[in-house]
Amino acid sequence: MRLSRGLLTSVAVCFTVLFVLLNSRSTVETVDDSERIGKSNAGEQEIRNGQTYRRVTPSLAELGVRESLRKVNEHILMLTRVPDAGSELLVLILQRLQGYNAFKHIRLPPGDHGHLSTLQEELLVEEITNIIRQEAIPLSFDGDVRFLNFSKFGRESPTFVSLVRNPVGAPNLQRYHDGRGNVLDDRAIPTFCGQDPRCTEVNNKWALERAKTNIVEYYPVVAVLEHMERSIDVLEYKFPYFFRGAKDSYRKIQPRGKRFPSPTFRLKPRDGDILFKLLKDEIEFYQWLKHRLLNETTLVDVDESRQL
Ligand SMILES: *[C@@H]1O[C@H](CO)[C@@H](O)[C@H](O)[C@H]1NC(C)=O
Ligand SMILES: *[C@@H]1O[C@H](CO)[C@@H](O)[C@H](O)[C@H]1NC(C)=O
Repeated sequence: MRLSRGLLTSVAVCFTVLFVLLNSRSTVETVDDSERIGKSNAGEQEIRNGQTYRRVTPSLAELGVRESLRKVNEHILMLTRVPDAGSELLVLILQRLQGYNAFKHIRLPPGDHGHLSTLQEELLVEEITNIIRQEAIPLSFDGDVRFLNFSKFGRESPTFVSLVRNPVGAPNLQRYHDGRGNVLDDRAIPTFCGQDPRCTEVNNKWALERAKTNIVEYYPVVAVLEHMERSIDVLEYKFPYFFRGAKDSYRKIQPRGKRFPSPTFRLKPRDGDILFKLLKDEIEFYQWLKHRLLNETTLVDVDESRQL
């Protein structure tokens, strides 16, 4: 009698577990279809790390963010470097923190930020996947690569991060003025847009939208050089297991003195017009990213004050 009751209980438990599993799967599937747009990785991460981050921000909750089927590994970071935007700062910070936070930073071989063929993209994805398999600890990578679509090859995607700078900030204007380099070589949109040939086109709306979509889905944080301290706050908040102590580290390596001297030149209005027209989408994109970061930071501040 006692035996059969035990059996009954375990059968009941099995059914419950099965029911819960099936149920949760179907919920997730519906969510994946209907709420793709406007869902941020950041949100997914907050939820998944529910243990550590009970403080889910209202806005994220409002978005209806739920754990999705999309596989993004939060313990693998991929820093896609925008040309000449100052990503070396983040690389230095990661290199300094790897021992302290028990992860490993790996630099991919130098690249040219160019667009990769499907085969090249697949080879790189496989190479990174193999490294991830071999190393049993959290990893961060950096490379002169554009966004890589891991799911295209059935691989689990790392979490992407990056850093941008003001396309019409003083240093860039100075370079343009001095005729050093081509301003169009250092655009940020191609890096986030990815490997489609359209990503390279100047002021292509499709590229701009693709870049934004990829950011919402894969880049929980994009740092902004002009707001580095805030960027680091957000990184530390979202990825403490990589960026714990980043603020101190940054203060040590931060270039001394005034970092962004005011321009000592004046662009001719005609040149200014041309430049602003060429960089129209870049400027919009930068403003969008800046807005996103500062909004995020406010949430961090609010959360912290609430906790006190
Ligand atoms: C901040 O983000 C929330 C939710 O995404 C949005 O509703 C709000 O308008 C944003 N505020 C600013 C200042 O961007
Ligand atoms: C990535 O690849 C998947 C599968 O091929 C595709 O559905 C998705 O649109 C791609 N995403 C990007 C950003 O290219």
